[in-house]
Amino acid sequence: MKYRKIGLLISAEEEDWPTALEILFRRYNPPVVYNGEPLNVEIERVRVHPFDLRAGTSYHLVVDRLGHWQLNPREWIKKAALYNRVYLLNSPFTFQSMEKHSAYVAMMRLGLHVPKTWLIPLKSFPNRPGYEETARKYYDWFDLPAIAAREFGYPLYMKPFDGGGWRGVSRINNQWELMAAYDSSGQTMMHLQTALDNYEAFVRALGIGPQVQPMRYQPEQPQHARYAIDNDFLSPERRREIIAITKVINAFFHWEVNSCEAILKDGLMQPIDYANACPDMHVTSLHFYFPWAVKALFAWITFCLATDRRMRLDSNMEEYFAIADTDMGYWEKLAAYEALADRYFETERFNEFCQKHLGWLDEAVWEFVQTPEFDGIIWETVRYLFPPHEHEQFFHHYRGILNYWVQATASAAASGRSV
Ligand SMILES: Nc1ncnc2c1ncn2[C@@H]1O[C@H](COP(=O)(O)OP(=O)(O)O)[C@@H](O)[C@H]1O
Ligand SMILES: [Mg+2]
Repeated sequence: MKYRKIGLLISAEEEDWPTALEILFRRYNPPVVYNGEPLNVEIERVRVHPFDLRAGTSYHLVVDRLGHWQLNPREWIKKAALYNRVYLLNSPFTFQSMEKHSAYVAMMRLGLHVPKTWLIPLKSFPNRPGYEETARKYYDWFDLPAIAAREFGYPLYMKPFDGGGWRGVSRINNQWELMAAYDSSGQTMMHLQTALDNYEAFVRALGIGPQVQPMRYQPEQPQHARYAIDNDFLSPERRREIIAITKVINAFFHWEVNSCEAILKDGLMQPIDYANACPDMHVTSLHFYFPWAVKALFAWITFCLATDRRMRLDSNMEEYFAIADTDMGYWEKLAAYEALADRYFETERFNEFCQKHLGWLDEAVWEFVQTPEFDGIIWETVRYLFPPHEHEQFFHHYRGILNYWVQATASAAASGRSV
């Protein structure tokens, strides 16, 4: 019997998908018998405490949703990967060194249609010895309204170079709003970016390993209504494109749980936000698509553990750049990048693994979504995220959507389609 332990390194605000994953791994243990050997899985939440840098660890794989925000767990997971060979979802190394800004630059180099973006220097310099003097000596004076008018026109977006949770994002309509936003940016380094309005579609694609779920996203709606239940909003070709883009980004940076926001406008799929160390996976956000996320995470983790997949610490960015530097066209390059991404994710092997060993998972999750335990997951999340007078209303709202998922999935299964 092979024994593997999963750690969930999470913040206090996440109870939904972690609980769902824990219930499934405990109920269906071993989840697979691989090469004749049952995979015995234990799952628990990682605790934070002082540690010896040479200490061993009992974990084999850690899903990290905290290291991006908190220093202590961040350094622990790095040690776990470097010293203990723990498999991490996601790589903290590329996330720490390459936030939204570098992700834009790298994907521009690959030829993806990232909208025009400029980086502007800090409005206020940190109060550190030498900073101000150096800036005075070497930083060029610049005329921000002139850059905005010349390069972008209005409206445009000003947003932090590292992004996350819509913090500090503003839509700017004129030069007065521009200067006000810049003044209040303080010590946060900002991008200016072309606003993509009047688009054909706004997609948020959640990628877990080689699995990608494109969802129609409605940013103008309140949080609970941003993900539309709509599986036909993209043509099959556009759907394949966003799936390929998401896999390519995730394989390029070794981000195995990430989301990619892209806007389809003027016939171009334009990615705008795709460096999300902790993509939103709340049941209250994903609702109809939440069971997909839980299944995808369960399948990818099980595959990594059963096949002893090793976390890739070094990068193969140059292989992508070698394709980028050819004179192939966009679609041909995208196909070539996707082949590299599929090699990274072992997509074919993973699909075979799911077919052969995880055939039971769809029905298990379908049943689980109908249990009182799943009601509890919805309740907990609604209680955490909504004011008390809305608890009842929103519990029933989400329960209703998930009941609809149960019915839609059953009828799709009966007719051989997938939801
Ligand atoms: N270039 C853009 N064109 C149109 N809308 C944008 C653009 N950039 C950002 N937005 C809007 O602002 C939201 C937050 O911006 P985003 O880049 O996703 O920041 P964060 O990393 O904080 O999520 C997006 O979901 C989108 O609705
Ligand atoms: Mg975003």
